[in-house]
Amino acid sequence: MEAYIFEWLNMFFRWFHVIAGVAWIGASFYFVWLDNSLENPPQWKKDKGIGGDLWAIHGGGFYEVAKYKLGPESEPENLHWFKWEAYTTWLTGMVMLWIVYYVGAESFLIDNSRMEMTQWQAIGAGLGFIAVGVAVYEAMVRSPLRHNAKLFGLILFGFLAFMSWFSHEIFSARGAYIHMGAIIGTIMAGNVFLGIMPAQSALVAAVKRGESPDPKYGAFAKLRSTHNNYLTLPIIFIMISNHYPMTYSHEFGWLVLVAISFIAAFARHFFNLRHRGVTKPSILVAAAIMLVILAAAMAPAKIEAQKGEAVLTDAQAVSIMQQRCTSCHAVSPTNAGFASAPAGIVLETAEQALAVTDKMIPALQTGYMPLGNLTQMTDQERQQLMVWLSK
Ligand code: HEC
Repeated sequence: MEAYIFEWLNMFFRWFHVIAGVAWIGASFYFVWLDNSLENPPQWKKDKGIGGDLWAIHGGGFYEVAKYKLGPESEPENLHWFKWEAYTTWLTGMVMLWIVYYVGAESFLIDNSRMEMTQWQAIGAGLGFIAVGVAVYEAMVRSPLRHNAKLFGLILFGFLAFMSWFSHEIFSARGAYIHMGAIIGTIMAGNVFLGIMPAQSALVAAVKRGESPDPKYGAFAKLRSTHNNYLTLPIIFIMISNHYPMTYSHEFGWLVLVAISFIAAFARHFFNLRHRGVTKPSILVAAAIMLVILAAAMAPAKIEAQKGEAVLTDAQAVSIMQQRCTSCHAVSPTNAGFASAPAGIVLETAEQALAVTDKMIPALQTGYMPLGNLTQMTDQERQQLMVWLSK
């Protein structure tokens, strides 16, 4: 019953998290596009302090948008802030982290072959890992380094790459990926809460006092929002990555994450330039080529039976799966953590297993399954099962 309730909580918060994330990132994409697409306004608008404007058509209506160089003469009656999208995404994300990885730490967060931990130690390590990542970013963004955007970007990338490696030393592969997602997501929500919102409040306060706002607030908020912009594609990759064990369960899973994040941020650069009227398709082509090279480099080794080794019979394969897999992968799992077969995969007959070989082989080859090797599958059984699957 408990597992069943957690399944529902899992579904509800994942759904909620995706909706909030769509709203946040959608608004963020829209404003980046808006900012980069502003045109030189006519003189009468300039006289009012408007620095750029644009026209758009959507949903059957014309929209005229104007951005003030500093601020309007008086405080608008109704000012929209766009902050709850970010906070809701973060909050629902933390709930998901708790439900999936902290309640289910034994299955999803701890990998005893990397580091032996109790559930509470793992939770402490997870929260500590996120706190350190965010603290380092906040220290960097408040240091003089913020005046050199390129160097900042480079050092931030190096730091996150290090954290990716480090997370794979402590947590299970999937737990490591999600903790990188949690660091990046918390940095991004923190950018809104600690940087962008205070800067905007200062802007509004200045307008209220009838003063012209100090441009340094806008510039500071801009740096944080630029970081968020480049982090959007990598974090969305991490959000969907748990469907692709070939990435995080790879022998060099931490490096795969670094490479994919680099390619994604690079691809984002194409759109940022394009909004400003600079179209460089070479960036997208280069990103696509890098992705293909990465896929080729990650390709798994061919599975071959060892000399003199007979391929398992179907009955022998089923017997291995009964020992190592069906406590979870059954119509009614006996493992108390699961109310139904995980990932919808039932492994009670040979036909059921052979119908999903394309998922079975990578899951076995990368060591992703059995989860956390809770059922203590031997290397020989793993090898034999893979040979049987690919016969
Ligand atoms: C302790 C429970 C448990 C055991 C034991 C277990 N699995 Fe899984 N398995 C899971 C869970 C949970 C998922 C879903 C994971 C996810 O969403 O990434 C899963 C997913 C899978 C998938 C789908 C992976 C994908 O590509 O999405 C395959 C294939 C799989 N298991 C095969 C096996 C095989 C083969 C064994 C036995 C050798 C095994 N599992 C043992 C819990 C288990």
